[in-house]
Amino acid sequence: MKRSILVTGASSGIGLETTRKLLSEGHHVIGIARGFDRVKIGNPNFNPVSLDLSQLATLPQAFSKICREHPEISALIACAGQGRFGMLETFSFEQIKNLMDLNFMSHAYLVKTLMPQLKQLEHSDLIFIGSEAALEGGQQGTIYCASKFALRGFAQSLRKEGAKSGVRVTMINPGMVKTPFFERLHFKPGPADENYIEARDVAQTILSVLKMRPETVIDEINLSPLKKVIARKTKEK
Ligand SMILES: NC(=O)c1ccc[n+]([C@@H]2O[C@H](COP(=O)([O-])OP(=O)(O)OC[C@H]3O[C@@H](n4cnc5c(N)ncnc54)[C@H](OP(=O)(O)O)[C@@H]3O)[C@@H](O)[C@H]2O)c1
Repeated sequence: MKRSILVTGASSGIGLETTRKLLSEGHHVIGIARGFDRVKIGNPNFNPVSLDLSQLATLPQAFSKICREHPEISALIACAGQGRFGMLETFSFEQIKNLMDLNFMSHAYLVKTLMPQLKQLEHSDLIFIGSEAALEGGQQGTIYCASKFALRGFAQSLRKEGAKSGVRVTMINPGMVKTPFFERLHFKPGPADENYIEARDVAQTILSVLKMRPETVIDEINLSPLKKVIARKTKEK
């Protein structure tokens, strides 16, 4: 069955790879990111929407417009997010707020807006890209982990709320994935193939979740590279 699927973070990494796979299987994708200049998707079934998800005040109106224009949306893949790591006292108040707003609050706003129309359908899916940081606090990860823990608690509670209406909720928690996510960080996965997950592995996992028969829910999936090795860079940008 061809579906209409909303993907946040569709311009890069996991979201872009997922968008490409969904389009190759004939689905319609509405993609959200700040911009799509760097990517050529060139498929008539792709609708890009440029939106800064950290600007919360603008989101209710923008999300209502997307829902009005696409009442057929039957799944959300929530990939948009950024990493920022460091000792808590090195964060500005604004950086704390922006990271929570982007990684967590924007998706809470989006699901709040989308949920009534999903509940009208027989079956629908909400898939959140969490992180291994949603499972355990880590060094220099106070705000990033908090944002991903928030997303995980949100997803767990939504699962109970949506089940009666056929809304399935899945959380996917990857370890280090080789994507542009690390471009502005002071570390990245080690260089060996076994030190990272590929974006296409996560995309493949997302597609498998969508293809599961509608009566079965995959609550949560954790993915890890075979061997975790962190390579330090000189300085975080
Ligand atoms: N890479 C990893 O090791 C890893 C591991 C675990 C979990 N994750 C999670 O996976 C998700 C995807 O990350 P990725 O690795 O694919 O990173 P990525 O390649 O950097 O992609 C991040 C996506 O989020 C979008 N985004 C960032 N800031 C935004 C904003 N303010 N408004 C709207 N969109 C915004 C980006 O688009 P624009 O820049 O065009 O706005 C891009 O499409 C994130 O939630 C991340 O926390 C990543």
